[in-house]
Amino acid sequence: MKPFRAAIVGTGNIARRHAESLRRIAEETGEVALVAAADTDPDRLAAFTAEFGIEAGYADAEALFAGTEADLVHICTPPGAHVPVALAALEAGSHVVVEKPATLTLAEFDRLIEAEKQTGRYVATVSQHRFGSGALRIRELLRSGIAGRPLLALCNTTWFRDQAYFDVEWRGRWDTEGGGPTMGHGIHQIDLMLSILGEWTSVSALARQQARVMETEDLSLAHVEFAGGAVASVVNSILSPREESYLRFDFEHATVELTHLYGYTDADWRVTPAPGHEEEVTAAWAAGPSQVRSEHLAQFREVVRALRDGTAPPVSTSDARPTLQLIAGIYASAFTRSAVRPGDLGPESPFYRFMQGAGPVW
Ligand SMILES: NC(=O)c1ccc[n+]([C@@H]2O[C@H](COP(=O)([O-])OP(=O)(O)OC[C@H]3O[C@@H](n4cnc5c(N)ncnc54)[C@H](O)[C@@H]3O)[C@@H](O)[C@H]2O)c1
Repeated sequence: MKPFRAAIVGTGNIARRHAESLRRIAEETGEVALVAAADTDPDRLAAFTAEFGIEAGYADAEALFAGTEADLVHICTPPGAHVPVALAALEAGSHVVVEKPATLTLAEFDRLIEAEKQTGRYVATVSQHRFGSGALRIRELLRSGIAGRPLLALCNTTWFRDQAYFDVEWRGRWDTEGGGPTMGHGIHQIDLMLSILGEWTSVSALARQQARVMETEDLSLAHVEFAGGAVASVVNSILSPREESYLRFDFEHATVELTHLYGYTDADWRVTPAPGHEEEVTAAWAAGPSQVRSEHLAQFREVVRALRDGTAPPVSTSDARPTLQLIAGIYASAFTRSAVRPGDLGPESPFYRFMQGAGPVW
């Protein structure tokens, strides 16, 4: 079988992870080949194509789509460029893997879904923390019934970014990033939490400009309710000198905790069975998948597998949309000072077209 031909648009920081992961899969299975890259910065492009031995380099995405037929286009530009590049890639006949956040608004996200339908090609959003073995284990613990019902979750992204971080012109702005730490940083933990707890039904939140000079919030707090009855507290901050990514799930029969920063291994998970459930919980956890780090490589292996099988690569648009919708709900609740349900965020809502709605209102 011929390898899938992959291309990368945007050759900055995160693009290296994409290229390294694709190289590794090429070595493991020969199922993918990284054949082209594009960047509007010629120096970055030249360094990147040289480092990864990529045969074709282009000054922009349009030139790439005109010059190279790609099965798969990885979009690693700043968020504001994701949608135009994704739409052009779908039009050119390629499937898309787009970095988080896939789009700046729900309206844009729905344009991608529409374009998927029209072109018969797929859009996958990068959300690597869904793919580590710990995430697979916790889902299995829940599915098997051994964990019991989910009751309570804590979802903290307490990171630190100094003022200089926001000197980069696309950071900390609604029109280029779609929000602050809720959208740009907490999205990973929020997405992992939703992938485990399922459909959310209501959110009450506040957002603050507490310390940084920027357009967006620098912290947000939210209470979320789920269809299954669980409730969660979500904190997103870039003001926290002791940085941590922390998820805690209190199920009826076990507490499962994850403490890490930008990626986890099995050692970052802790399971505490409830009294009377020690043996069952401990045995089920130990028997689950192991030794897969939560990194791009783990997700891209599944993407290539799905392409081979002709199915939608993960994380599909239907799986990724609830995460963006909850983030829109956090902003809507914070800026309207009221609880928000998913049904409040349809096309008639100002928060459908702009994450800050008609606000922000501080
Ligand atoms: N999944 C993760 O853990 C993770 C981590 C960091 C960043 N990201 C995401 O990756 C994306 C890129 O972030 P980064 O830190 O690599 O940014 P970066 O600024 O380092 O790189 C972006 C690159 O895109 C190029 N570019 C900009 N507009 C372009 C266009 N229209 N066409 C072609 N090239 C263009 C820039 O010249 C630059 O080289 C963002 O969406 C970010 O949120 C994800």
